[in-house]
Amino acid sequence: MPSVTLHGVGRHFGALKAVDSVDLAVEHGEFLTLLGPSGCGKTTTLRMVAGLERNDTGTIVIGGRTVSDAAADLFVPPDRRKLGMVFQSYAIWPHMTVFDNVAYPLAVRRHPKAEIRTRVMAALRLVEMEAYAERPAPALSGGQQQRVAIARALVFEPEVLLLDEPLSNLDARLRAQMGEEFRALQRRLNITTLYVTHDQEEAMALSDRVVVMDKGRALQIGAPEAVYRRPASRTVAAFFGTPNFIEAEVTACRAEGDDYVLAIEGAGAQGDCRAGQAHRPGERVVVMIRAEDVALGRPNEPARAGQLAWTGRVVDGVFRGSRRSLAVEAQGRRLNVECPATRAATIGDTVTLTVDADNAWALRE
Ligand SMILES: Nc1ncnc2c1ncn2[C@@H]1O[C@H](COP(=O)(O)OP(=O)(O)O)[C@@H](O)[C@H]1O
Ligand SMILES: [Mg+2]
Repeated sequence: MPSVTLHGVGRHFGALKAVDSVDLAVEHGEFLTLLGPSGCGKTTTLRMVAGLERNDTGTIVIGGRTVSDAAADLFVPPDRRKLGMVFQSYAIWPHMTVFDNVAYPLAVRRHPKAEIRTRVMAALRLVEMEAYAERPAPALSGGQQQRVAIARALVFEPEVLLLDEPLSNLDARLRAQMGEEFRALQRRLNITTLYVTHDQEEAMALSDRVVVMDKGRALQIGAPEAVYRRPASRTVAAFFGTPNFIEAEVTACRAEGDDYVLAIEGAGAQGDCRAGQAHRPGERVVVMIRAEDVALGRPNEPARAGQLAWTGRVVDGVFRGSRRSLAVEAQGRRLNVECPATRAATIGDTVTLTVDADNAWALRE
């Protein structure tokens, strides 16, 4: 049974459709991430699940219980939804100790003192902060404050955890470290998690599945690798990195495994690519090729059968430490190429570019 289900969920503010008929299901124990640019409706979606915002269309079901149904005018308030929440500003109260911060939600609901103590210490143990219980909150580092915020969200033993950009206040190194820690904790507790971020790398590193959102809509839902390598549209493809888009004509098509192999011709090359559906000869397609999937060879290096191949000239190069970003001009078009930094490439060099069929993906237009 899915733990959180959204069906046709929407919300408008005046004329703006902030969230437009979103369907998704978070499975029990799953880590699902809403990913998309600023303003695409991630926070509004999360707030509707939390009950902090009312959906004006659709239904929301948590753990088998309908908590909101716009058409039936049914709405369960946030404190009766069994959720834990962590937001971008952790809202750690500076005048309280770590213990009191975590205890606060229980204290305001007048739980017995002994029970509060047990539950707070258990929550702090989960995030390995029990030794800090009596410390004043401002004496903590950013990462520790974040753990306290997570402990506070866990103190009610929620069925579902909602997190809205919880790492965005941290510097890059701490963000990566806290992300991994949080992911390990999430797996250990097997807690259903709906997470929001605009950071593609963070989303891919943490999530079982991601929902790519744009302009209030869920464009694609899938495992990080599927969304990255097999995007459903150009918008989804372009959201990750700087892929190449090649216009081509289909000359042949055959089914293979779960998808199709197309023979294509275009942009001065011919070879094979893969596609999610069948195409007829003569149809035009846009083919996505990730910059890191373009292999850089010596001039006149022969291509293998089926490979797309170009001969071009290096027109730009940027050293990035672990890798090198090149722009190569071939047949009047610029191709982005990411190669290991150890690969010497000077502006003006003539190079051969090859791409395997598995790394060229025809997009549905
Ligand atoms: N309370 C509100 N009143 C009016 N507009 C809002 C309100 N909340 C959000 N919006 C608008 O809805 C859109 C989606 O916002 P939001 O869900 O916060 O996006 P995200 O979290 O993806 O950055 C934005 O255009 C935002 O300005
Ligand atoms: Mg937001």
